[in-house]
Amino acid sequence: MTSIEFSEGLENETSTDDLEKTLVIVAADADKRNYEVIEKEDNLNDEKDEDIQPKSSKKLKICDFKDERCSNTSLRKAKPDESVAHHSRESYANIVATHYNSRLEKGLHERSKSRLFYLRNFHNWIKSMLINEYLVKIKDKKKNNSPIHVHDMCCGKGGDLLKWKKGSIHHLICSDIAPVSLDHCKSRYRDMQNRIGHERGSESIFSVEYIAADCTKIRLREKYQDPSMKLDLVSCQFAFHYSFESLKQAECMLHNAAECLSAGGYFIGTILDSNHLLVRARKKKSNRFGNGVYQVQMDFDINKPPLFGAKYHFYLDGVVDCPEFLIHFPTFVKLAKKYGLKLIEKSNFYDFYEKMKIEGKQLMVNMKALETYPPYQGASLVGDPKFDYEFAEEYIKNYTSGEGVYVGTLSKSEWEASSIYLTFAFEKVKNSWASDGTPIYEI
Ligand SMILES: C[S@@+](CC[C@H](N)C(=O)[O-])C[C@H]1O[C@@H](n2cnc3c(N)ncnc32)[C@H](O)[C@@H]1O
Repeated sequence: MTSIEFSEGLENETSTDDLEKTLVIVAADADKRNYEVIEKEDNLNDEKDEDIQPKSSKKLKICDFKDERCSNTSLRKAKPDESVAHHSRESYANIVATHYNSRLEKGLHERSKSRLFYLRNFHNWIKSMLINEYLVKIKDKKKNNSPIHVHDMCCGKGGDLLKWKKGSIHHLICSDIAPVSLDHCKSRYRDMQNRIGHERGSESIFSVEYIAADCTKIRLREKYQDPSMKLDLVSCQFAFHYSFESLKQAECMLHNAAECLSAGGYFIGTILDSNHLLVRARKKKSNRFGNGVYQVQMDFDINKPPLFGAKYHFYLDGVVDCPEFLIHFPTFVKLAKKYGLKLIEKSNFYDFYEKMKIEGKQLMVNMKALETYPPYQGASLVGDPKFDYEFAEEYIKNYTSGEGVYVGTLSKSEWEASSIYLTFAFEKVKNSWASDGTPIYEI
């Protein structure tokens, strides 16, 4: 049992009450046991790692986009063959944009009633820890306190604005395909600005610019207020999978992520772990699997998924319900190299949690990232009391004095959903130049 007692070292924390001192992710252990047999990383496709072309596409044309479209002479155009979704690419972008545009902004009260209240908070905690980890590295490198420039790619409604404020950055570029989400983001930023304006002695907040665009198709740099701006960090949270609709889109998005990063800067994010998704589908011998919290429907042969355009629907209790695409991680890494991005970290959420649990325990409490079990003072549980908390029960029985003990946990169903995600981080490396002016990266 690798469950964690959060009690050690918390005695002197003034804002942590007794109840919250014994947080533990119990369901995580349960899930780990269930998925011990993870198939090999590169099991998505029989094709060799060196060949990143969609299956059965032969020689591919040079990409001939002009103007603001992603342009890169080394991009090759994939034929619309069986490995790439047959749907019009434009229409998927529209479905995604329409979906996010129509999502209503829910207040805190409304969110607290959601079945996914703790799961969302837990994911928010993961993002906070990841962003903070890399902002700290950037500050360590900078030494002279020079301004920090960040691009929040696919920023949505600006759920990470507070994280950027806490990280004391100086300028933020927010891009997203859904203009309505960007409007929410703008008004959140204005509220934040107003609040700060009323706090006496508070420092000024970072500046922001907004770009409404499809990051998988448009070269974003040309839309920056200052296209010569160098970035320290590009963050793409829960969104990179949209680009794996096609090779061309994945390359465009990576180009956007890497193009303005300074050498030594980082590209970080969170995505679904395709390997894990496939393992679950294959274990169930079905294209459809999930539980009461999440459902996945895969629209391709799970025994022979294509490298690009492997479309699935991911439904997370009212949070996401639109087409997404598997990201074959070795392909992601290989494509990233082309843009000078070197993989430095990849962790599933469980391992990331393990790494950050001590450093982030106070934040975890503040963010209500775990549910209290047994329910405190008549509160009701978000999960099924009979099914979702058996590991919390077991933990209390085997590892604590029992009576009057409370633990923090995610319900088993929520953990099953959360454990399909992973975090990644790439570093932009220095380059030399070829005689034709193209950059050469030694990775
Ligand atoms: C799950 S939300 C994540 C939002 C935000 N990053 C967060 O962590 O709260 C995914 C976001 O990606 C955006 N998105 C999807 N496809 C996109 C594309 N091709 N270009 C730009 N944004 C896109 C959606 O509009 C949505 O806001």
